[in-house]
Amino acid sequence: MQGRDTQKTVLITGATDGIGLRTAERLAEWGANLYLVGRSEEKTKAVVQALRNQYPEVSIDYSLADLSKPSEVKKTALEIKSKLNKLHVLLNNVGAFFSKKVLTGDGLESTFALNHLSYFLLTHHLMDLLKATPNSRIVNTASQAHVGVDLDFANLQGEKKYNGWNAYQMSKLENILFTYELAERLKDTDITVNAFHPGFVASKFAENNKGIFSGLLKVAKVFAAINLDKGSDTGFFLCTSHMVEGVSGKYFDKSRIKKSTKQSLNIETRKKLWTITEDILRDHL
Ligand SMILES: NC(=O)c1ccc[n+]([C@@H]2O[C@H](COP(=O)([O-])OP(=O)(O)OC[C@H]3O[C@@H](n4cnc5c(N)ncnc54)[C@H](OP(=O)(O)O)[C@@H]3O)[C@@H](O)[C@H]2O)c1
Repeated sequence: MQGRDTQKTVLITGATDGIGLRTAERLAEWGANLYLVGRSEEKTKAVVQALRNQYPEVSIDYSLADLSKPSEVKKTALEIKSKLNKLHVLLNNVGAFFSKKVLTGDGLESTFALNHLSYFLLTHHLMDLLKATPNSRIVNTASQAHVGVDLDFANLQGEKKYNGWNAYQMSKLENILFTYELAERLKDTDITVNAFHPGFVASKFAENNKGIFSGLLKVAKVFAAINLDKGSDTGFFLCTSHMVEGVSGKYFDKSRIKKSTKQSLNIETRKKLWTITEDILRDHL
């Protein structure tokens, strides 16, 4: 644990459960002011109240948004900007697995919309806040699940066929491709951006689904998963450690730089993903 730092403000998406919530608790204990984004008013208010009770010395604020909807991501970003004038760390953590294809109200495939588009769009709208903050950091929660896939641009949103695990794998590859491309675009600034794998963590991840895969995952969590403390280690490290000052465009596992897959290192793929993402989000940029 490092020394307290009451000057820092950290924004966390998916902060009401699992890895995001545990990271939020640890950051508050470390002394960071928190800004949480949650989707359920009741649950978010309860989490915020519990954190305020436990860590009265830090400031904790929140916004509500269904982050699978670009219009809500943008609205939330504008709300955040009206309340904050500095943002030291943006932790894009929200993520989910959908065994069946679910479309958002905007007709977007939910895995792609939540796991990839929300990272891209929230980061885009908070960029001026990050630029106004010396040495700010963007931390993207990716996953080793990116291993074994490449992007199929003709099937990014399950247009040809949908397989929930494949969609999730692609979304986590997108997190890494986004991280590398953004790092390149920010290389002349003092903002860093890194991605990481938290480990296989015993959270409620994927419990929004029924079926064999989710059942097997639940069993696997009992036998093979690490707890939330360990599962929040690498994210907490990237948000707080002096060891990663100036380090950007890297993928981390167990708080160490790790080589991501060949597919994730393909510059053409990441540039194409950026262009397609901008095109999909053009009404929200
Ligand atoms: N668990 C693992 O083994 C594992 C491994 C590798 C990577 N990851 C990544 O780690 C991140 C966190 O996962 P987790 O395991 O902590 O999952 P989790 O326990 O299911 O927590 C997910 C969080 O995201 C929020 N959320 C879900 N859909 C949302 C939406 N549409 N709008 C706004 N918020 C939404 C949830 O809100 P509610 O509280 O309202 O449900 C919750 O706070 C994800 O990016 C995941 O891909 C997890």
